[in-house]
Amino acid sequence: MMKIAVIGSTNMDLVSYTNTIPAAGETREATGFHTACGGKGANQAVAAGKLGANVMMVTVIGDDLFGEKSMDNFMENHIDTEYVWTATGVASGVATILVDSTSQNRILIHKGANACLTPEVIDEAADALRECGLIVLQLEIPLETVYAAIDFGVANGIPVLLNPAPATKELSMEKACLCDFFVPNETELAILTGMPTGTEDEIKKAAMSLVNRGLKNVIVTMGSKGSMWVSKNDFLVVPAQTVDAVDTTGAGDSFIGCFVENYSRTRSIPEAMKEASQYASFSVTRKGTQDSYLTRDEFDKLKK
Ligand code: ATP
Ligand code: RIB
Repeated sequence: MMKIAVIGSTNMDLVSYTNTIPAAGETREATGFHTACGGKGANQAVAAGKLGANVMMVTVIGDDLFGEKSMDNFMENHIDTEYVWTATGVASGVATILVDSTSQNRILIHKGANACLTPEVIDEAADALRECGLIVLQLEIPLETVYAAIDFGVANGIPVLLNPAPATKELSMEKACLCDFFVPNETELAILTGMPTGTEDEIKKAAMSLVNRGLKNVIVTMGSKGSMWVSKNDFLVVPAQTVDAVDTTGAGDSFIGCFVENYSRTRSIPEAMKEASQYASFSVTRKGTQDSYLTRDEFDKLKK
């Protein structure tokens, strides 16, 4: 089975649920709270791992209780942790998350140890990375490391998937366009192209603008509207399942984790999108990020 390398962030998520988001200067009582392992990189790795993929995680955790918990979590989910480093004297990445009664979230991240994932790690993990068939990246680590990983993938003929989240205009689109897969949500696509993404037609045009700049495959996640694939010769919209959403945090990560697991077996983008769409739709019906991701057995029982 093709090995997948996720080079990305690990956070501890501190999640509060509230009917109404407090205004500036206001204090409110949360309706619920939990801590859970998160971070976009870790979430994507864990989703793929839960589904049975062969995943290697390249990340930096803090030398605190959150870091220990994250390491245990990787191991419980069968993820290769040889390149999970612990930064001495540095706190783990943390995400403070507020989820409102409409299931929308607001997230504040503190990078912590994720800032220590410098380009040198790509050199240190180079031999192991060369054994991988896909490299998966997001933007919660230094941009220089993202660029080094893209260059490594290109130089070694390893396809690279970039999830440009959280979106930053500092991202070099020249580098991003070297990727084989670019997977933004609608908002990220708008920020990174400077084009409107309010309708399917606008999303298609914005995605096409990246394809015209050399990006092979742009896959846009569109929340309850599903996902869209645009390439030079392909256009596909996969609808999301109609579900009662309670918490959409990490839906995009579950989509990507499932997409890469399926793609690593089938090499079919439409098939991987269809599975990922169902998998992510299930994830929004349960609270939490990784806690809401189904295992292979659970998913096989529920999927159509
Ligand atoms: P996040 O940043 O919270 O991880 P995202 O904005 O990156 O999420 P979305 O586009 O919201 O990602 O969602 C990813 C996928 O999850 C969608 O393509 C869809 O398949 C599924 N999904 C998200 N929200 C819903 C919903 N309300 N109903 C059904 N499916 C959903
Ligand atoms: O995409 C969801 C993730 O974003 C959360 O797990 C949180 O850690 C933030 O990084």
